[in-house]
Amino acid sequence: MSEQEIKVPDLGGADEVEIIEIIVSEGDSVEEEDPILTVESDKASVELPAPAAGKITKITVKVGDKVKEGDVIGMLAASGDAGGSDDAGDDKSEQAEEKTEAPSEAKSEDTKSAPKKKKSGGSRTEVVKVPSLDGFEDVPVIEINVAEGDTVGEEDPLVTVESDKATMEIPSPYAGKIGKILVKEGDKLSEGSDLLEMTIEDDGDDEDESADSGDSAQADSQESKPEKPQGKQESEPQPQGSTYEPPSPGTKVHAGPAVRKLARELGADLTRVKGSGPKGRIVKDDVHAYVKSQLQQAQQGSGVATGSGIPGVKLPDFSQFGEIEREGMSRMMAATATNMQRSWLNVPHVTQFDDADITEMEDFRKAQKAAGEKRGVKMTPLPFLLKACAAALAELPQFNVSLDMERKEVVRKKYIHIGIAVDTPHGLMVPVIRDVDQKGLWELAAESAELAQKARDKQLKPAEMQGACFTITSLGGIGGTAFTPIVNTPEVAILGVSKASMKPVWDGKEFQPRLMLPLSLSYDHRAVNGADAARFTNLLTQLLGDIRTLLL
Ligand code: COA
Repeated sequence: MSEQEIKVPDLGGADEVEIIEIIVSEGDSVEEEDPILTVESDKASVELPAPAAGKITKITVKVGDKVKEGDVIGMLAASGDAGGSDDAGDDKSEQAEEKTEAPSEAKSEDTKSAPKKKKSGGSRTEVVKVPSLDGFEDVPVIEINVAEGDTVGEEDPLVTVESDKATMEIPSPYAGKIGKILVKEGDKLSEGSDLLEMTIEDDGDDEDESADSGDSAQADSQESKPEKPQGKQESEPQPQGSTYEPPSPGTKVHAGPAVRKLARELGADLTRVKGSGPKGRIVKDDVHAYVKSQLQQAQQGSGVATGSGIPGVKLPDFSQFGEIEREGMSRMMAATATNMQRSWLNVPHVTQFDDADITEMEDFRKAQKAAGEKRGVKMTPLPFLLKACAAALAELPQFNVSLDMERKEVVRKKYIHIGIAVDTPHGLMVPVIRDVDQKGLWELAAESAELAQKARDKQLKPAEMQGACFTITSLGGIGGTAFTPIVNTPEVAILGVSKASMKPVWDGKEFQPRLMLPLSLSYDHRAVNGADAARFTNLLTQLLGDIRTLLL
């Protein structure tokens, strides 16, 4: 086994290229032609192949290094050559280099000799042809970088083709406007194939129409400001999933130079972008879709998670554990999920617990049964809770605020509107009862029943769900002893109500059976301090414990 240097082969005209990826590690066994590393010029990315089969004994370069033809990038202990003379190894290496010579860029000069097609007024239309591909033939198109109507500058990439060794962008020979595109993704191109039509503005001097069109195009391009291709950026990218793998060092990225450049400009980490091209190749649309989804998440608040550096939840393939079925979220469910996450991540929550003795309140409430039947309204504990909360909000106005953190202001509200969380078959809805402090128990009972029914029937108008200062979420009709509700931002507090139950309460002499109602007050600790929260629940227990005080 002989050791030989691995050298950078002919780079097809590119002087110096940057190493963007090292594919192998020391100790790896490779076959002849296996890619060892990827280099990138400003026009193409090229994989440099192993000159022979063997074991990589040394890598002498690192990502980011600039190399040119003939530079040594590592050492290889070639296998299968028992004689093992260095000369033999060198010969093989030379052959490999020749064989794998890869074009670094399609030569735009060649495209300029394309015949003219039409000429009209101050502009002419050219058919741009595929330039020399340095011996490669039938190279498939993997990306079309422009769209009809785009304005491009000279040398802007028109299409990307990929052989089994190199990715090449065919640059525009002129500055001009893209006409009909004559190829599609997957088409195989060779030198001289028709690529697309371009309209090139003349500079007024058209006497050498039959002469070298390249020169006139050169003149055009010097005068016209090169513009970036627009068409792809305007097109609607396919949305991607909202969770991305965190970047892992050494992740192999398949992307051409234009895509890498775009990603650099937009600050997109290509290791997080899912490629939709052949073999997972990342195309420009993927980068746009990734950036768009990141922006949308940030704007909708669901991006708070990733935006604040918290990694998204990675889902396993659940089908490996058993049968599954996937179903799209309803708009309401998606909106609730976003709001909950936004509130949970933005608000420092604390929950204060207390029990209210509602023994007398319940006696009074039950005594209203006949009156309720006459009115057609059922008196539940909810109207009492609404009244008590309205009184507590008036007494402790620090609960009736919203925080404007951008302007560093506290917004104090002079009205008392309270939201009630309603459990419906299609999700949680929160209609709002306005001016609770100005309404009587029957009015509140009727209005809360009507709004809850409207919520269940999906009949609520947007205005009926807006403007709350505070929310009550009652699970009392269902069960439970306590819970920690999430503040319905931008409100600063929410009262959770659990199921009342008979408990032995010490009256100083003996235990008395009392009906106790568990209260869970969650609050935004930026707006409300713990002492005020304890005062608030204290006040609620007093008001509910003796409902005559609600009249005071
Ligand atoms: N403890 C014991 N019993 C209670 C109670 C409590 N805290 N609250 C209500 N009840 C009783 C009622 O008195 C009624 O009993 P009755 O028929 O014997 O008189 C029964 O439970 C059902 O009451 P309900 O119809 O739920 O009326 P309500 O006015 O108490 O509540 C809503 C109305 C809209 C709040 C309620 O229907 C609802 O949707 N609650 C769920 C809210 C929710 O999902 N919150 C979670 C958000 S994360």
